[in-house]
Amino acid sequence: MKEIIISPSILSADFANLAKEVNAVKDAGAKWVHIDVMDGHFVPNITVGVPVVKSLRRTTELVLDTHLMIENPEKYIEPFAQAGSDILTFHYEACKDTGHAAEIISLIKSFGINAGISIKPATAPEAIFPLLNMVDMVLVMTVEPGFGGQEFMHDCAMKIPVIKENAPENLIIQVDGGINNLTAKICTSLGANSLVAGSYIFTQQDYKKAIQSLV
Ligand code: DX5
Ligand code: ZN
Repeated sequence: MKEIIISPSILSADFANLAKEVNAVKDAGAKWVHIDVMDGHFVPNITVGVPVVKSLRRTTELVLDTHLMIENPEKYIEPFAQAGSDILTFHYEACKDTGHAAEIISLIKSFGINAGISIKPATAPEAIFPLLNMVDMVLVMTVEPGFGGQEFMHDCAMKIPVIKENAPENLIIQVDGGINNLTAKICTSLGANSLVAGSYIFTQQDYKKAIQSLV
């Protein structure tokens, strides 16, 4: 069986102690850390930007999995890549069309890092079929992007097998939103191999136990 990649979302971490929190999830067994970038336009919330990615790069060797929930993603690929992101995921809905999305993927790859594309709950998986051979990861949102701590949308998880059937073997299928010990199992049994979890991990005393309960 292939390894399930857990990517703790720092959105639910203590921002005043971010380095400590990231080291704690590393000690708890995480190999990735998920950074939610929100611009107050693409989603109705504002979080962190380039300086936070840059600071985290100095403090950790974990894979920096940056999720851009922003308009005009093409403008910010270079700074987020230079800041040290290992994976840059942008939203299909933030693009004008498939061609625009393809250009953004190429731009991300020109910095020698991995590219991910994400779809919101209302977007059909078929919309990104033409891009599946270009990306390293697809991020299926199982909540409306914008906030942590929302309830898992079961219908969205049904996109996982549809993407898996049409994707190259090595594509990473990540889910994000409402992941806990129960919804994690639903997603992995449907074919997801990466899980983002924010509130589920960071509200528990024992991060190791929380992470282990997801796989
Ligand atoms: C939501 C973000 C998520 C968020 C998940 O827009 O993309 O990464 O942190 O939070 P939980 O795991 O609490 O649903
Ligand atoms: Zn996210």
